[in-house]
Amino acid sequence: MNAFEHTPVLLDEVLEQLDPTTGGVYADVTLGGGGHAKAILERSAPDGRLIGTDRDPSALEAASAALSDFGDRATLRKARIGDLADVLASLEIENVDGVLADLGVSSVQLDRVERGFSLAKDGPIDMRMDPTEGETALELIGRSDAEELANVIYRYGEEHRSRKIARSLRRAFEEGELETTGDLRHAVRRATGPRRGRIDPATKTFQALRIAVNEELEELEALLEQAPELLRVGGVVAVISFHSLEDRMVKHAFRDNEQLSPLTKRPIIASDRERENNPRSRSAKLRAARRVEVGA
Ligand SMILES: C[S@@+](CC[C@H](N)C(=O)[O-])C[C@H]1O[C@@H](n2cnc3c(N)ncnc32)[C@H](O)[C@@H]1O
Repeated sequence: MNAFEHTPVLLDEVLEQLDPTTGGVYADVTLGGGGHAKAILERSAPDGRLIGTDRDPSALEAASAALSDFGDRATLRKARIGDLADVLASLEIENVDGVLADLGVSSVQLDRVERGFSLAKDGPIDMRMDPTEGETALELIGRSDAEELANVIYRYGEEHRSRKIARSLRRAFEEGELETTGDLRHAVRRATGPRRGRIDPATKTFQALRIAVNEELEELEALLEQAPELLRVGGVVAVISFHSLEDRMVKHAFRDNEQLSPLTKRPIIASDRERENNPRSRSAKLRAARRVEVGA
């Protein structure tokens, strides 16, 4: 088993939408462990190309190992998803046949305690996808006042108890009681009360902090703006999202851009079998759109 094992979600469904073919050029902007990328390269053999990017250096390392058999058919770069236009320009690629984004964190990032993404394990309050730059979630909590923090938790976590939670997080921070993700969960619970159902009361707060730290919605917006111009006519953009904020953005971008024609009226979701085998697939939603000629 690869050290960066991550089961790609909705793999058949992604391939059906992108329909990789011989000689095609595809961009995977969320390489992760390279699961989707590998399948795209296999389908576009013998000469299809894949431009793969990720902002996490350890994901790039893993993908590079996973795709080593494909030689120079795979070109990998460290980049944010909103940098796709620049990456393609630097490679002198004008347009591509497909763009794939499989958003969010990989199961490997979640499993690595030191990254601080996991609710279940006690790690530092970090949550950066690229641990070499930007502020950590703890730094964000430390520099925000309770109102700013409540806005982050409300907007990115869609958490209606945001004010209470933000005050509790600030108090814990000021009292020096906020060091680990376990402390973070504890501070959220102090505001919300104990867990009632299946979902941990800190889930939405963790999601909100992660989205803010990584500027995930800004990145997605930049990608959605660039994708139509970067696709050749007939090319397809496919996005897998994991929460309603992202899915709404994708849906609107595909619907409102005259260069795009949505291929999925409703998002494609995982089959019962996949949901059973891969819990991460349970909240996955895939939407795709085709680049069309304007005024044709
Ligand atoms: C769900 S995983 C992708 C898994 C991959 N499709 C596979 O099959 O192995 C998401 C990856 O996207 C990266 N990522 C998420 N948001 C990003 C962004 N804004 N810019 C660059 N990479 C991002 C994460 O670092 C993570 O490695």
